[in-house]
Amino acid sequence: MPHNVATLLDPDAAPLADNERLKRESDFLRGTITDDLQDRTTGGFSPDNFQLIRFHGMYQQDDRDIRAERAEQKLEPLHNVMLRARMPGGIIAPEQWLAIDRFAEQFTQYGSIRLTTRQTFQFHGVLKPDIKDMHQVLNGVGIDSIATAGDVNRNVLCTTNPVESALHQQAYEWSKAISEHLLPQTKAYVEIWLDGVKAKTTEEPILGETYLPRKFKTTVSIPPNNEVDVHANDLNFVAIAEAGQLVGFNVLVGGGLAMTHGDTATYPRKADDFGFVSLENTLAIAEHVVSVQRDWGNRANRKNAKTKYTLDRVGIDVFKAEVEKRAGVTFEPSRPYAFTTRGDRFGWVEGIDGKHHLTVFLLNGRILDYPGKALKTGIRKIAEVHQGDFRMTANQNLIIAGVAADERAQIETLAREHGLLDDTYSAQRLHSMACVAMPTCPLAMAESERYLPRLIGLVEELLAKHGMAQEHIVLRVVGCPNGCARAMLAEVGLVGKGPGKYNLHLGGNRIGTRIPKLYRENIGEDAILDALDPLIGLWAAQRDADEGFGDFVIRTGVVAEVKVSKTDFHA
Ligand code: HEM
Ligand code: SF4
Repeated sequence: MPHNVATLLDPDAAPLADNERLKRESDFLRGTITDDLQDRTTGGFSPDNFQLIRFHGMYQQDDRDIRAERAEQKLEPLHNVMLRARMPGGIIAPEQWLAIDRFAEQFTQYGSIRLTTRQTFQFHGVLKPDIKDMHQVLNGVGIDSIATAGDVNRNVLCTTNPVESALHQQAYEWSKAISEHLLPQTKAYVEIWLDGVKAKTTEEPILGETYLPRKFKTTVSIPPNNEVDVHANDLNFVAIAEAGQLVGFNVLVGGGLAMTHGDTATYPRKADDFGFVSLENTLAIAEHVVSVQRDWGNRANRKNAKTKYTLDRVGIDVFKAEVEKRAGVTFEPSRPYAFTTRGDRFGWVEGIDGKHHLTVFLLNGRILDYPGKALKTGIRKIAEVHQGDFRMTANQNLIIAGVAADERAQIETLAREHGLLDDTYSAQRLHSMACVAMPTCPLAMAESERYLPRLIGLVEELLAKHGMAQEHIVLRVVGCPNGCARAMLAEVGLVGKGPGKYNLHLGGNRIGTRIPKLYRENIGEDAILDALDPLIGLWAAQRDADEGFGDFVIRTGVVAEVKVSKTDFHA
């Protein structure tokens, strides 16, 4: 089937988006990246290569804080790249950690390692002359960044679950297998960054020569924890276990959170349940959800290109039947499961294998040495002695996993000495999250990561005022409506609209199965607090036992429930 069949299915068919041209002309993602790398008259890449390096896991950025100053000095913006690694399931070994710690220290503009909401790490501010070395350093410890951005299947998530170690191991192996199966076949990454031998790529059997219409995200989750936020992802494998052994997956398709301000044809949308598949059919189903989206996704309008819009356009049943036909597999009825939580369990837990696991909280996932809290040094010192591994959670935190009983005390001491364990953090802090936004993200309209600490303090004050200091509201802030910190699955979601201005959404739930509705538009801090204050007061006074804030505002009609995004979200 031709890849532009979308034009047949889409009555509003329009010329293909320019990204389609550049993918097709790129010679399987090579473009002229190598030439650009050698051009030292600029720190940036040409427009086409600017897009293509994303498929290799990098975004060209610049420091927005110093843009104006540099322009005054007649200098181009301080171009650099952000790198995002491919780490299925977020597991990283101590020796790998030590290598990325060294690199961040020496070669990144900010010296930080940032754990992301999709279980990997990012370096920010790598200059052109160091890019190739960066890939070689990573390769030296078995890490790559292939397909962590761009129109491809990105880093595959897996619930961290340190307790049920056997089940986690099986689910984790599937997240790796799915990641490998859906990876681009082109050798462009190896050639360009690792000086691999040029080997002509002749086809991309799964992704096709123009790759996917838009980014594509996959998870493997282990109920009852919805840490990965299945409804933020295109393709989700929900683990179904019998007697602690994985037997297959319920498959959920078509989640996604991004939208565009002022464009009601865009909306955050939950994933739909397609049914159960056994393990032997898992890769075939993964491949053909991707292949149907590859062929049917809209390649004319990138704002309408994600799987969620394809499903709403062709119909869930039609999409599902096509996947079944291509995979030669029929979905069985879904098996029962329930999500009851999304949060991380901080502190120590003991796994059924007798190993101990310590989850530490990292605000915004930003690992750096702060005054009085040398987080980065602390993790380095732990990595120097740790025999197990580290797991990055989808909530931007870190698990020091697989600690033997007699090594527990040593790890705990190091964690405490470096501010990695702080028993004074409020429940509110532990349930708050922000995307990067300023100064590196070119799309940011408002502050997010840098604003979150202040906002948490203010919400803590409101909770305390109403006698709810021990309580929490799942609070997420994003600097623009793309939604990288998954605000569109929060109980209170703030979406950047302009400097200091946000849209306030209410009514998601604690387990991430409801999209919050717009409550106030384009408001600043005072108005945000004025809106929340009386509602928290009502919640404190009238809540049903243990009722979350999001459930309360829906039950009492403060906002209408978003049931079907296409019709309800903007209503
Ligand atoms: C059209 C939609 C989107 C665009 C154009 C976009 C673009 C970007 C950019 C440019 C960054 C880099 C920011 C920086 O590190 O300086 C970023 C970070 C990130 N994005 Fe997105 N994004 C989109 C939607 C999403 C969504 C819906 C999710 C998750 C559900 C997501 C997950 C992430 C993650 C995990 C990061 C890393 C930093 C973090 O943890 O906040 N993105 N995105
Ligand atoms: S939500 Fe917007 S501002 Fe925040 S990191 Fe994503 S693209 Fe940037």
